[in-house]
Amino acid sequence: MNENKHQTITLPAYIFDLDGVLVDTAHYHFLAWNRLAKELGFSITEQENERLKGVSRMKALDIVLEMGNVNASAEEKEEMAARKNNWYVEYLETLDQGHLLPGAHEFIAASKKMGIKIALGSASKNARTILKKLGLLSVFDGIVDGTMTTKAKPNPEVFLLGAELLKVSPSNCVVFEDAQAGIEAARAAGMTAIGIGSEHNLTGAALVVPSLAHLTPEELSQQLSLLQQQ
Ligand code: BG6
Ligand code: MG
Repeated sequence: MNENKHQTITLPAYIFDLDGVLVDTAHYHFLAWNRLAKELGFSITEQENERLKGVSRMKALDIVLEMGNVNASAEEKEEMAARKNNWYVEYLETLDQGHLLPGAHEFIAASKKMGIKIALGSASKNARTILKKLGLLSVFDGIVDGTMTTKAKPNPEVFLLGAELLKVSPSNCVVFEDAQAGIEAARAAGMTAIGIGSEHNLTGAALVVPSLAHLTPEELSQQLSLLQQQ
């Protein structure tokens, strides 16, 4: 008798970051922050913008103000963050499925076809608006956005909440992230982190691919089991 006949294979659960992993909004964030910086008398570079990825709006503002050596009161900061967000939301008006990043749609479809549970783990308070525009609001088994967390990445809160919504243990979760803060948050949650982007900007990920177009769920599980054997 085949002893493996009744062996059950545990599927992983996937948690996707939104901005920069599924949708090309990182550039809009950059444009809006740079517009604020210019109004304050300085500018930020694309490389400096890497530090703003993945972190909450208020934390990103603190980093921007630090870059420009600008001091501001709590009240002024609230106003600046709102000003930046208004521009960002204006840019989002033109967002449609054409802004989905390469492979995002296909990878999500393939994951669902395999029965893999999927969640969103985003720092953005605009996440649901964006998902709606992309027609992705109903594909996730759980959504965690910036309105549901109090601690910004690299704190693991967002991903731990995602695992809770999916009712899976953190060690069974694979996180897809384009930001260093997100990779660190995933690792702090005890999850496997997959970097989306350039290896140069993403340290500590189990694997880094330029986009989800370079991976299928099958290839990913093969690569992860190879890494485990090493
Ligand atoms: C993250 C982005 O997804 O959301 C960050 O990578 C951004 O750059 C953060 O600061 C918060 O977004 P929002 O939409 O709430 O300002
Ligand atoms: Mg991101």
